[in-house]
Amino acid sequence: MARHLITSAIPYINGIKHLGNLVGSQLPADLYARYLRARGHEVMFLCATDEHGTPAELAAAKAGKPVDEYCAEMWGVQAKIADGFRLSFDHFGRSSSEQNKKLTQHFAAQLDSQGLIREVSETQMFSHTDGRYLPDRYIEGTCPNCGFEDARGDQCDNCTKQLDPVDLINPRSTISGSTDLEMRDTKHLYLCQSKMKDQLEAWIDSKTDWPILTTSIAKKWLNDGDGLQDRGITRDLDWGVPVMKGDQPWPGMEGKVFYVWFDAPIEYIACAQEWVDEGKGTDWERWWRTDKGADDVTYTQFMGKDNVPFHTLSFPTTILGSGEPWKLVDYIKSFNYLNYDGGQFSTSRGRGVFMDQALEILPADYWRWWLLSHAPESADSEFTWENFQVSVNKDLADVLGNFASRVTKFCRSKFSEAVPAGGTYGAREEQLFTDLATKIAEYEAHMEAIEVRKAATALRAVWSLGNEYLQEVAPWTTFKTDPEQAAAQIRLALNMIRLYAIISSPFIPDASAELIEAMKTDGSEWPTDIKAALTAMPEGHVFAVPEVTFRKITDAEREDWQQRFAGTRD
Ligand code: 2FM
Ligand code: ZN
Repeated sequence: MARHLITSAIPYINGIKHLGNLVGSQLPADLYARYLRARGHEVMFLCATDEHGTPAELAAAKAGKPVDEYCAEMWGVQAKIADGFRLSFDHFGRSSSEQNKKLTQHFAAQLDSQGLIREVSETQMFSHTDGRYLPDRYIEGTCPNCGFEDARGDQCDNCTKQLDPVDLINPRSTISGSTDLEMRDTKHLYLCQSKMKDQLEAWIDSKTDWPILTTSIAKKWLNDGDGLQDRGITRDLDWGVPVMKGDQPWPGMEGKVFYVWFDAPIEYIACAQEWVDEGKGTDWERWWRTDKGADDVTYTQFMGKDNVPFHTLSFPTTILGSGEPWKLVDYIKSFNYLNYDGGQFSTSRGRGVFMDQALEILPADYWRWWLLSHAPESADSEFTWENFQVSVNKDLADVLGNFASRVTKFCRSKFSEAVPAGGTYGAREEQLFTDLATKIAEYEAHMEAIEVRKAATALRAVWSLGNEYLQEVAPWTTFKTDPEQAAAQIRLALNMIRLYAIISSPFIPDASAELIEAMKTDGSEWPTDIKAALTAMPEGHVFAVPEVTFRKITDAEREDWQQRFAGTRD
């Protein structure tokens, strides 16, 4: 039994996330957490809302609410939806927590004491029309590197270069569109990432098993232009963690807050403190402090590719640069983007399916299965309603659901609602044991490696073995001439339902639980000896025919949803 710490990138508080966000971090993280728990490991799975920064301020203003009230409310909304998707966080925290405030201020003091923070006098855009300093992403203009006209102040989406707003040519406020911008002098703290470059590079180079997507982005940033740049970690804003050196004032930094990207990953740690403070656990340090037991923890992070630089360079600078024994990430699983029906998901234009809407039209498992089996791992992937319909109808309804329903109904009608006795297993059954063991081992290997799509493919193949077996031995035909043999075939098939329920639970937890309940059996033990696992429900074991586990999506529904989610959410 090993100990695994798992974090998912923490979603911004403003607004409900779409399915592309879900599949890029929270959902695969949940898959992995569920799998490791099912294998008997000790897991700490953390996520939170990312509450600071201007997007939250603006969204609150739009909602006509004080920002803290808005955040508290939206946290509730996001927590409920996460629950609806069965995201099994041990704690779903908030980056605006007192714990995170303290810890962020602590890290800043530590980094300063290690000589990794410097003060920079700079000019920053003040927008007269908006009455505020404009944070990076609220300034757009022409990229000095590639000429792209809609480059954001923090990064160019065209050439991915990290930018400073002052670099932009012809800058404008994206809040008001105003070009009435004034450069004002202001002082900020910078994190000296450049001083850590060699250490970071050596660390990343040592991670030969990381996904190429992760390491290639990290390397690109390490060696972009003049190399790794120092990053401003403070902002002239009201909403955020006040800049303090531990619990001491930071001269010259009065009225400023830390940059949201500085405090957000620190919330991964603070989240575990919240978990303790809310009475859910007793010791967070054994997960996070290598001097307090976390040295034998394996820490895995999940995120979309846009988050990779902050997790491979900035946050590790915070951790390593603190000079304290904090747990550093062991494996970073990153994802490409999920597109929507010929374009991009768009939060601002309401294009695509959002998490709350998804749950309104179908149960979580349908989405979980499609999203995970099409996770954008090696490249971007695309959600289309046609593909969704085909996958659900085929994999879930025809292959898995139909297997469970055919077997149980046949047993009820020809024998009873109990595992039938009689008959023996022969060569065909031995072959099935071998095939199942092989495929399940393959499935497990992909799960261990967090190869999500490959794991889904292997699982689907395991399900198919059941149908192939049924098709071939045809118990409904056998029954006419040799009911004893048909009993053996059905006994095996019933046990396969149980086996499937257990191993499928990381992907489709609700359906798995329903099947386990219908089989009136215990699903807590992961099958290691497949042949033995297929005797878990012995002759005479009573079960019930499960409700329809998965229903099919009709063409009319598909067309209706396609229209409904084409744009502008109300
Ligand atoms: O991209 C995002 O949604 C960010 N809110 C992710 C932050 S992850 C971390 F650093 F906490
Ligand atoms: Zn550019």
